[in-house]
Amino acid sequence: MELIPAPRAVEEPAGAGVPLGRDTVLWAGPGTERAERWLRATLGAALGLPLRPGPRDAQDCVRLLLDDTLEPEAYRIDAAAGRGVEIRGGGPAGVFWGAQTLRQLLGPDAFRRAPVRPGAALAVPRQVVEDAPRFRWRGLLLDVARHFMPKEGVLRYLDLMAAHKLNVLHFHLTDDQGWRIEIKRYPKLAEIASWRSRTKFGHRASPLWDEKPHGGYYTQDDIREIVAYAAERHISVVPEIDVPGHSQAAVAAYPELGNTDVVDTTALSVWDTWGISANVLAPTDTTLRFYEGVFEEVLELFPADAAGFSEFVHVGGDECRKEQWTESVAAKTRIADLGLTDEDGLQSWFIGHFDAWLAARGRRLIGWDEILEGGLAPGAAVSSWRGYGGGVAAARAGHDVVMCPEQYVYLDHRQAPGEDEPVPIGFVRTLEDVYRFEPVPDGLTADEARRVLGTQANVWTEVMEDAARVDYQTFPRLAAFAEVAWSRLPAPAERDFADFERRMAAHYRRLDALGVAYRPPTGPRPWQRRPGVLGRPIEGPPPNR
Ligand code: ACM
Repeated sequence: MELIPAPRAVEEPAGAGVPLGRDTVLWAGPGTERAERWLRATLGAALGLPLRPGPRDAQDCVRLLLDDTLEPEAYRIDAAAGRGVEIRGGGPAGVFWGAQTLRQLLGPDAFRRAPVRPGAALAVPRQVVEDAPRFRWRGLLLDVARHFMPKEGVLRYLDLMAAHKLNVLHFHLTDDQGWRIEIKRYPKLAEIASWRSRTKFGHRASPLWDEKPHGGYYTQDDIREIVAYAAERHISVVPEIDVPGHSQAAVAAYPELGNTDVVDTTALSVWDTWGISANVLAPTDTTLRFYEGVFEEVLELFPADAAGFSEFVHVGGDECRKEQWTESVAAKTRIADLGLTDEDGLQSWFIGHFDAWLAARGRRLIGWDEILEGGLAPGAAVSSWRGYGGGVAAARAGHDVVMCPEQYVYLDHRQAPGEDEPVPIGFVRTLEDVYRFEPVPDGLTADEARRVLGTQANVWTEVMEDAARVDYQTFPRLAAFAEVAWSRLPAPAERDFADFERRMAAHYRRLDALGVAYRPPTGPRPWQRRPGVLGRPIEGPPPNR
């Protein structure tokens, strides 16, 4: 079977498979309830299988159980006529990932929401699958700030992540161009910071504008629903509130957060074009108290569970422009009071404040690799985006790392050369380039390499104005990424891309059934092009480590 991501081992002993039908029963042992609910709701709906509860030893039943001889996310599927389909997991997550594999074993119709061939014979082939992930953190960043993704779209992406055995949604909720989470004590974040009156269409050098208001935000109940929906799928949601840069939307709503002695922040609006805004937060007590209030609500909405990575809160920390701080008397006074040497020190003071604040509440800070400049509390972790360097330095300093270098896994980057790619941005990074991405760079000791929690693909949405554009940039490359994150692949040059492509032929049929508007291997469909909309292609250096 053409499984993606590739499992550790598949055996296909001689013998008959397991027929599934309206009478197939489902027995779920203690701790397997989430997989049980998912199978009944999702596979059951797709294939018209009631999967009624039944006894453990029923003929040809589906059986779910925990097996503590396996690692927490590992699973084993054994399908044989008479004995049925048994999915054992080292923990609840392992059983759930096994259920995802079972869906792939049942063909593309299993990825629809209702039966298209009611009554057709169904069977799980005789086989034994043994599987476990290479990395614990298998992430996807969704930038819902540059273009808002309505709640339904986020829930759909959680389903797509689960189908690819990805388990961390890095939720980029705030930026210069929009603030997407309701904060009760600061209502203007929803009223003002969540929308802009128009939007640059294409790269910022493009002369085109989309002259309609764009916006949206998640209510606190929307967030609770997203977090709970993710948890049902063994996915942790790590919220990102980006400070002290990338904050113009917040300053537009609450002008006192900005550098009021340098610019008239009351005249600012939510940014309508792309780039890195100079309108950063002021390094004042007012700002600290305001964001403590934001984070208090964020911690309640994103509780730290026992399992997964929900203890993490991402504070951004990337690309903070310093021009306003250089001009600001208030910032200079703060630098002097704190005994810092310059504005860079202010940035690390800012991050350090929230590092300690989160640690005091039992939570862990994660931020972009710029946060390393200035030192971090021991539990803090780093998202390495400007290549591998930040991640290597963080691992050597004893910090956990998520590898997401822009040279490989920024899925906003164009996926082919030529004129046809819609709004081409960045380097050409093909499906094969992503497949040959290696999250652990050479040169780390074994101890340092263990600091690499895993890896993440980042979907920045400046030029993705709707869900179809997000699908186009994200797929099929997310399938290659999922295999990098989950499977134990050989060194990049030795990876069997031809075999991956062969399995992708089956996977495209699954994506079709799921309604994913991926980039076809032959190039964009006519309606996926954006002729005349300016991008910013970069002639990339070859990927290097
Ligand atoms: C980033 O791409 N600025 C994290």
